Amino acid sequence: MSTPFDDLVARMDAAMIVVTVAVDGERDGCLVGFHSQASIEPPRYAVWLSKANRTCTIARHAHHLAVHVLGEDQHALAELFGGETGDEVDKLAAVSWEPGPGGVPLLTECPNRFVGRVIESAEGTGDHILWILDPTDATAADSPPPLRLSAAVGIEPGHPA
Ligand SMILES: Cc1cc2nc3c(=O)[nH]c(=O)nc-3n(C[C@H](O)[C@H](O)[C@H](O)COP(=O)(O)O)c2cc1C
Repeated sequence: MSTPFDDLVARMDAAMIVVTVAVDGERDGCLVGFHSQASIEPPRYAVWLSKANRTCTIARHAHHLAVHVLGEDQHALAELFGGETGDEVDKLAAVSWEPGPGGVPLLTECPNRFVGRVIESAEGTGDHILWILDPTDATAADSPPPLRLSAAVGIEPGHPA
């Protein structure tokens, strides 16, 4: 049964992003709904990665993460990055990408994106770890509105939280 808190969060209907990472030849990415701008000056962006996810394990050693904003026509990418885990599947072998700063994978299909230089991370916030990012290399394209949580909520996560 959903709580009033669950209902409020669902009402905000977060835009869905894919966060990618690469360290020492290990690469991965996952679908993320927990994220927000966190400062204006200096510009800062916050993302939370589940401790259960392989993306999170790699990100602990990363200097850069890439944030890709999915369009509502990109449900298949959400299924790949949210429904599969890099523990079992090489998700990046299934899509086109190029290395960005620090080798972080930049998804060709997602021109709405930025690279985040890792400023700091914090473990004490629950079952997800917080990363604070300095956004660089941002690109924005004319594209459909964002894919929302309400459209992605049926995807069974590759790792339960
Ligand atoms: C709608 C939806 C929202 C999600 N939000 C997050 C999130 O905010 N942070 C996170 O780390 N994982 C989130 N996940 C879960 C991961 O995307 C999923 O477990 C993924 O398979 C992990 O892959 P990995 O083990 O290769 O990193 C979400 C999944 C779904 C379906």
